[in-house]
Amino acid sequence: MHAKIVLLPGDGIGPEVVAQGERVLRAVAQKFGHSLTFTTCPIGGCAIDEFGDPLPEQTLTACRDADAILLGAVGGPKWDDPTAKTRPEVGLLKIRKELGLFANLRPIFVSPYLVSSSPLRPEIVAGTDILFFRELTGGLYFGESGKKTNPDGSETAYSTMIYSTHEIERIVRLAGQAARGRKKRVTSVDKANVLEVSRLWRRVFERVMKDEFPDVQYENVLVDAMAMYLVARPKSFDVVVTENMFGDILTDEGSQLPGSLGMLPSASIGASGPGLYEPIHGSAPDIAGKGIANPLATILAVAMLLRHSLKLESEAAAIEQAVDRVLAQGHRTADLAAGGPSIGTTEMGGLVLAELA
Ligand code: IPM
Ligand code: MG
Repeated sequence: MHAKIVLLPGDGIGPEVVAQGERVLRAVAQKFGHSLTFTTCPIGGCAIDEFGDPLPEQTLTACRDADAILLGAVGGPKWDDPTAKTRPEVGLLKIRKELGLFANLRPIFVSPYLVSSSPLRPEIVAGTDILFFRELTGGLYFGESGKKTNPDGSETAYSTMIYSTHEIERIVRLAGQAARGRKKRVTSVDKANVLEVSRLWRRVFERVMKDEFPDVQYENVLVDAMAMYLVARPKSFDVVVTENMFGDILTDEGSQLPGSLGMLPSASIGASGPGLYEPIHGSAPDIAGKGIANPLATILAVAMLLRHSLKLESEAAAIEQAVDRVLAQGHRTADLAAGGPSIGTTEMGGLVLAELA
């Protein structure tokens, strides 16, 4: 097959981990006889520096024209000035919105080889396998917001969590369909005891599940309780569906189950068009340029890219198995090494390549 891939390395450790993702993509293409073309475009802070815009028009155009997009990370202290005209994160939010990527899939899977890297006890985390569906183009991130200065000089600001029936239905449907291929259980997370928007979310969720997925079990959990259950009994969840910001927070929490944010990939997909694949970790400015970042989340994002956008299941599985073997052999980047011996970003990428070959 032939496919066009856009690489968006971004800021901080983004370029380092995307370089390893690209190596793996090229190796898989060669091994399985596919032809991939790569275009690299700026996004985030580096795009602000160069073009004054965190998502330059040419980047958006290239992305629209691609079959799939691999992104590193955006942001860093250099662009954190609260009075600045724009921010790197705006680029990421804009590309999600412009491409209609309303569903963010975040698998939280604890590899048997990483059970001992988890801060939680083995009997709690071993066997954890959750697939989060985070709504990505609505809710608190995209609702009306504003700020004003009051007559006494103090300030007031607000952000709104807003959802329509249609936005809830489409993400719930994807979650329901995914559950059918798994353990057939969906948990919806909301704050229906307080928020009107959550009460709509819950009503729509229950209706879609009852009418369209009678074969799938479902439950509702309040977001504060979910934060607790996620570390108390993570094995009891299969598919979880939730609002944009709840999903942002809960998946960072969930990333600690396998011991490091550096292990978790994500896929952002829409009704049609290219998907966007990225590690869930950020730009990690504290370790940027040191060559020690864990590239496995990005490499696993490449597997999701092959599976979801290019429909290349065996190729995706080959990558996941290669990663698993490298972990089984005991190789660890610093984030997972708990102070023990560790290897660098390029070395880890190289080991995955060797296993693929
Ligand atoms: C994520 C990140 C982003 C988000 C930031 C960088 C805007 O935390 O993808 O989870 O909040 O969505
Ligand atoms: Mg986040």
